[in-house]
Amino acid sequence: MAQLEIRNLHVALEDGTEIVKGVDLKVDLGQKHAVMGPNGSGKSTLAYALMGHPAYVVTDGQILLDGEDIAELGADERAQRGLFLAFQYPHAIPGVTVTSFLRSAINANRKAASGGEDDPVPIPEFRTNLLAAMEELKVPRELASRYLNDGFSGGEKKRVEILQMAMLKPKIAVLDETDSGLDIDALRIVANGVNKLVGPETGALVITHYQRILDYVTPDFVHVFVDGRIVAEGGPELAHKLEAEGYEAFGSNGNGRGPS
Ligand SMILES: Nc1ncnc2c1ncn2[C@@H]1O[C@H](COP(=O)(O)OP(=O)(O)OP(=O)(O)O)[C@@H](O)[C@H]1O
Ligand SMILES: [Mg+2]
Repeated sequence: MAQLEIRNLHVALEDGTEIVKGVDLKVDLGQKHAVMGPNGSGKSTLAYALMGHPAYVVTDGQILLDGEDIAELGADERAQRGLFLAFQYPHAIPGVTVTSFLRSAINANRKAASGGEDDPVPIPEFRTNLLAAMEELKVPRELASRYLNDGFSGGEKKRVEILQMAMLKPKIAVLDETDSGLDIDALRIVANGVNKLVGPETGALVITHYQRILDYVTPDFVHVFVDGRIVAEGGPELAHKLEAEGYEAFGSNGNGRGPS
């Protein structure tokens, strides 16, 4: 069984509108998967449902993480089990600095890992790891003491998402349009961050509508997502075919929702 296994997943909005219409997907440790689809096809909805956002209702199917169905768990419990989502539109948390946010997130995971006992990361260890990760991802030092995402530029927000990922070392990282809004240097830095993380202990699902990031994060598998469904699958060559031919060749009618 793969680390993350999505079976026949259906996701609806609170008003009942079905957005994700039966998705099967397996992501294993050491693998990089790309989900590519047009605007409005339901990619972020899929990502939110994986993470347990309350506005997105799983109406059918299963989300298995390491064999356990997590579809009923809260977002915190999913994170503690090693699932991580880098948001397309990261939220600001005024009053909480990047540093304290990261330390709380790490400590919550450590607590869960030690069966509910507090096991806070020693401050010197935390500082060393944080400084190393910030250096690696070229995150300016002063961002660490600012409130999370509060007034951050688009590119700074995305880099800080990757910083969180690097610090939390999830088993499965879902990156929702992490490439959008990045200049070319930032894109390379972010892609390197993803490449470094993926290995024996981590797999990644990279959601994007452009092939651009995939020049730097070469996916092992590409899934084409149109109108809430995976309509084609293949290797990295499929991303290039998409770039050349667009999504219409895969049944999209330009509004992401496919022929109706
Ligand atoms: N909370 C919500 N309320 C109302 N409609 C929603 C909500 N979330 C998603 N939708 C609708 O669901 C559809 C899919 O949206 P989603 O954000 O998942 O698409 P996407 O594939 O991520 O698009 P993009 O490439 O633009 O990021 C859209 O039509 C969107 O308007
Ligand atoms: Mg989206």
